[in-house]
Amino acid sequence: MASHSSPTFLDNLKALPGNLWNAIFRHGRPTSDRARSQAVFSNVFLHIHSARVHPHSLRLATTWGLGVGLVAQFIILTVTGILLMVYYMPAIGMAYDSMKDIHYVVPTGRVIRNVHRWASHMMVVFVILHMMRVFYTASYKKPREFNWMVGMILFVLTLALAFTGYILPWDQLAYWALTIAANIAGSPNELTASLGFAEGFKPGDVLKELLLGSSEAGQHSLIRFYTLHCVFLPVLTTIAVAVHFWRIRKDGGLARPQGTPTPAGGHPPKVGPAPSMAAPAVQVEEAPRKTYGLMCVVRDRSPHTGKDPDETVPSWPYLLRAELLVFMVVMLMCVALGYFFDAPLRELANPALPENPAKAPWYFLGLQEIVSYSAFVGGIVIPTLTIIGLGLIPFLDREEEAPGIWFSGPRGRRAAAQAAVFAMIAAVLTVAIPVNFGWLRNWFPGIHQLVIIFVNPGTLLTAAYIVWSLVVIRRTRSTRLGGIALFTCFVVGFVILTYVGTYLRGPNWDFYWSTSQWPGH
Ligand code: HEM
Repeated sequence: MASHSSPTFLDNLKALPGNLWNAIFRHGRPTSDRARSQAVFSNVFLHIHSARVHPHSLRLATTWGLGVGLVAQFIILTVTGILLMVYYMPAIGMAYDSMKDIHYVVPTGRVIRNVHRWASHMMVVFVILHMMRVFYTASYKKPREFNWMVGMILFVLTLALAFTGYILPWDQLAYWALTIAANIAGSPNELTASLGFAEGFKPGDVLKELLLGSSEAGQHSLIRFYTLHCVFLPVLTTIAVAVHFWRIRKDGGLARPQGTPTPAGGHPPKVGPAPSMAAPAVQVEEAPRKTYGLMCVVRDRSPHTGKDPDETVPSWPYLLRAELLVFMVVMLMCVALGYFFDAPLRELANPALPENPAKAPWYFLGLQEIVSYSAFVGGIVIPTLTIIGLGLIPFLDREEEAPGIWFSGPRGRRAAAQAAVFAMIAAVLTVAIPVNFGWLRNWFPGIHQLVIIFVNPGTLLTAAYIVWSLVVIRRTRSTRLGGIALFTCFVVGFVILTYVGTYLRGPNWDFYWSTSQWPGH
C-alpha cells in the first residue's frame, strides 16, 4: 500500500523538469564560489578544468587564446567533418563528384565544406603559434616536459589530419600532392642505389606501399587516407588532447612567472587579478586540533591542508567565459571565411596530366623546397630530426629559471632578434646560390651521388642553424638562449622557404619572381 506522503503520479509529472535537472546537474544555479566550484567538479565536461584558476592564466597576453582556439577548431572540424561524411564517397570514381554535389547541390553543403577546409588551415596556423607561445615563454620546463612531448604528438597529428583531408577530394591538387608524398616515401631508394645495393634492398618501396596501399596512387590510397582522416587520427588526437589537458591540471595549471602568487605559495602578487575578477581571499580559520586528510595523500591540521590564502578565482565563470569568447571568435572567423571564400577544387585527378608545378599544401611548401634538393634528406632525415629535436627540447635545456616570461627577458629577446636576422640571410642564400650558380652536380659532373644526397643546400642550412645556436650557447653559457636561437632560426627558415615555395617557384620548380613570368603566360 502506498504510504500516506507518497507523491501522486500528477505530482511526479509536475516535478519532472526539476527532478530531471537535479538528476543531471545535481546542483541549482550556482550563485556562490563554493557552488560554482561544485558545478565544475560535478560536470564531466567542466571537470577537465580545475575548480579555480590563476588570473595570470586568464590574461590574453599569457596564451593569446591559442590552445582554446585549437580545441574550438577541432570541435568545428569534427562536427563539419561528420556532416561531410554523410555525402562524401571514398571511391576514386565517385569522390570528386560527391565533392561537387556537396558544393553545388546539398543544401548548406558549400558553407560546411568551406568551413571544414578553412578551419583545418587555421588549425595548422594556430598549432604553430601555440607551440611558439609555449616555447618562447619557456612553458616546457619542469614539470611540463611530458606535456610538451604530448604537444609535439598533437603537432604531428594536426599536420597529418590536414594532409590526409587534402587528399580526399581526389582532384588534381590532391593527386599530385599525394604523388609528392609518395616520392618522398620512396626516396630511401636514392640512398640504397647510391650505395650500390639497389636491386636487393629497396626500403623506399616498402614505405611507399605503406603510404599508398599499392605501388601507385589509387583506390587503395584513397581508402587508406579516408580511414586515417576520419577514424584513426581524430581518435588519437582526442586521446592526446585529453592527456594534454589532464597534464595541464596535474602540472599546476599554466606556467607563470616566479613571484606570481601560487595557490600554495603565498608570495606577494606581481600580476594580480583585474579588480573585478579578484576573489576574496580564502578565510583560514584558526587551525583546529583535529587532523584532516585527503585520500591518504595529504594530512594536516587544517582543512586547507598545506595552503595559504591564494589569489585564484573560480573557473566558473571567469575561465569558462573566456573560453566561450575564444570559441565564438574562432567560430565566427571560420563561418565568415566559409561563407565568402570557396575552398579550392580543381579538375578531377588525372594521372596522365601532371600538374606543373605540382605543389604540396602551403604548410609543406617549405619542406618541398628542401625536398627539391634531396627527397631523402629534405623529406625524411631533416623533418625526423627536427621533430625529435623539438620533442627533446625540455631535456636539452635544463636551466632552472622562471617559466611564463616571454623570451625569458631582454637577453632572450636579443638572442631571438639576432637569430632571426641570421636565419633570414642564411635562408635567402640557400635559395639564391643554387638558383644563380647551380650546385655540386653542375660544378663537378662526376661527383658521387652520395655526396649530392647529403651535401645539399637544405642540409647546409640546417647545419648553419645548429652551428649558430651552439655558438650562442658557448658565448652566453646558456642553453635556454641557445634554444631560443635555434627555435627562431627554424621558425624564420620555415616562413621564408614557405614563401619561396608558394610564390617564387613555377613549372619544374624553377625560380620566377612572379607567376606572370611562367612559360605559357
Ligand atoms: C591540437 C593541438 C593542441 C591543443 C588542442 C592544445 C591545447 C592546449 C590548451 C587549451 C592549453 C592551455 C591554454 C593555452 O596555453 O592556450 C595548452 C597548453 C600547453 N600546450 Fe598545448 N595544445 C595543442 C598543441 C600543442 C603543441 C604542438 C605543443 C608543443 C609542442 C603544446 C604544448 C603545451 C604546453 C607545454 C602547455 C602548457 C603551457 C603552460 O603551462 O603555460 N601544445 N595546450
